[in-house]
Amino acid sequence: MDQYIEFAKQINRYFGVDLLQYKRPQMERRILSLMRTVGVDSLEKYVQVLRGDQAQLDKFMNHLTINVSEFYRNPAQWQQLEKQILPELLQRSPNLKVWSAGCSSGEEPYTVAMILNELAPQGRHQIIASDIDSAILERAQEGRYNIKSVAGLPEPYFKKYFDRDGEVVLVKPELKKWVKFKKHDLLKDPYEILCDLIICRNVVIYFTEEAKNTIYRKFYNALKPGGVLFIGSTEQIFQAQEIGFKSVALFFYQKAAG
Ligand SMILES: C[S@@+](CC[C@H](N)C(=O)[O-])C[C@H]1O[C@@H](n2cnc3c(N)ncnc32)[C@H](O)[C@@H]1O
Repeated sequence: MDQYIEFAKQINRYFGVDLLQYKRPQMERRILSLMRTVGVDSLEKYVQVLRGDQAQLDKFMNHLTINVSEFYRNPAQWQQLEKQILPELLQRSPNLKVWSAGCSSGEEPYTVAMILNELAPQGRHQIIASDIDSAILERAQEGRYNIKSVAGLPEPYFKKYFDRDGEVVLVKPELKKWVKFKKHDLLKDPYEILCDLIICRNVVIYFTEEAKNTIYRKFYNALKPGGVLFIGSTEQIFQAQEIGFKSVALFFYQKAAG
């Protein structure tokens, strides 16, 4: 059998991550470069290394799941969310359930928390933020960032929701308590239900077309009627209509109201 497929099966068996649903050329490139750093020349030996060395396993997981994020990443889309999408959702329901899936170090869910707190501070909103990577979730929960990661954030948000200590910025506890972080694998764990808004940006780009399609269908089911899915600026849902989504703005897809 193809060595890569055998490797992927073993990784799934031992560590529960299904590499076969990620785009193969990118994965192979990253795995080969990691193998070089530990000096092994076959995938078979590399699995043994991963099974015996937690530090190498952490490194492997980190490499697979690129964690780059920023506050207010791609501002035009956050403005769209702020000015059009959230006000419409808030008209339907004063208390929103929001899920940031593949939230990485937390910039995305904290951004939506700030916006919601400005638009509807009285609401009893629920913001759930999930990722497959436990190490990154710990960092997200800490809410500690380099000053560079807030460069794109409007100044009033920065002043209101952060404390600064030199080059380090800290999310204020009042904002932190809005967001509940949890580990979740989009490829195999059960999805949330009855969400008003799902944000999943720059995550499915790593997956095969088939996996992507399944994920979009599951997001559709996870939304309330009238709920909205917010995707990344390099993404589009080719099967949107077939799934039942209506495009309501660039990068925003709505489930038909019931
Ligand atoms: C580039 S970051 C995106 C961060 C944020 N959404 C943004 O756009 O700024 C991609 C994230 O997807 C996560 N990820 C990769 N595979 C995943 C999976 N199967 N389930 C859940 N999250 C996954 C990674 O751990 C990583 O934190």
